[in-house]
Amino acid sequence: MRHFLSLQDLSISELNYLLGEAARMKAELRQGKRPALLSGRVLGLVFEKPSLRTRGSFEASMIQLGGGAMFFGPSDGKMGVREPVADFARTLSGYCDAVALRVFRHSTLEEFAQHATIPVINALSDRAHPCQALGDLLTIQETFGKLEGKTLVFVGDGNNVAMSVALGCGMAGMRFILAAPKGYHFDEAFLSHYRQVAPSGELLMNGRPEHAVGEADVIYTDVWTSMGQEEETEQRRKEFAAFQVNAALLEKAPKHAKVMHCLPAIRGEEVDENAIDGNRSIVFQQAENRMHAQKALLKWLMLR
Ligand code: CP
Ligand code: NVA
Repeated sequence: MRHFLSLQDLSISELNYLLGEAARMKAELRQGKRPALLSGRVLGLVFEKPSLRTRGSFEASMIQLGGGAMFFGPSDGKMGVREPVADFARTLSGYCDAVALRVFRHSTLEEFAQHATIPVINALSDRAHPCQALGDLLTIQETFGKLEGKTLVFVGDGNNVAMSVALGCGMAGMRFILAAPKGYHFDEAFLSHYRQVAPSGELLMNGRPEHAVGEADVIYTDVWTSMGQEEETEQRRKEFAAFQVNAALLEKAPKHAKVMHCLPAIRGEEVDENAIDGNRSIVFQQAENRMHAQKALLKWLMLR
């Protein structure tokens, strides 16, 4: 049995296998084929925070694969409040074939995984969003035909999404540049983790988006204030003001560079309409690919 709490839970060859399977399953779906590979199987979804894409793509994945999903939202699932995390894990292990958790603290996922007897998937924590990175790599591969040698510039907060995308880039042979304000770069714990997972990966940190995007194939951004950080919103608006992905910034990037965003986006903050709704944006291809990537992941985790 395997868990997927971080991209580091996969070897590079397993990552490549999943990306290949996701592309194959996407093409198969385009031909109208929906093989019931997970017939009768159940995915549990326990979410402490809101979601559109992650919940929607997991539920759609299970329906397309002939199985089903059970959703527990914040009002059902206060893990550690109504009952201990361990009891949650042991109970759901009796009903489900895998469970995906969206949590405030990454440690909740680790505790759950210790007590579960089924695969546990990280559907977003404060430290990682590996399902997002999996879908994003699929999107970049589709767009450029390959990953190796490409450069992704992440403009904004060195947050959960940025950390997972950086790890994914490192594992796939892509260069990752973080353009963040002072105080919002990756911490030492993440950097040493990155060096272990991708010893020959190229990761740079740069405070000037207009310099960083000069070599970008992909310009990626995410909200300035993540779920759980709401009390810092005003402070972050000030500190990130010069870190918007907008028409002026795109002018400084190569013509072929694409815009990515994990969504949800706040137009007028981290991104403007020109960038996110313009012809260089691939954000809805990216949103759709969450599902194709997760179908490959679910099949791999549930059928081993
Ligand atoms: N990108 C992403 O995870 O979106 P949701 O928060 O809507 O699931
Ligand atoms: N960094 C954002 C991503 C949402 C998908 C958050 O954690 O709220």
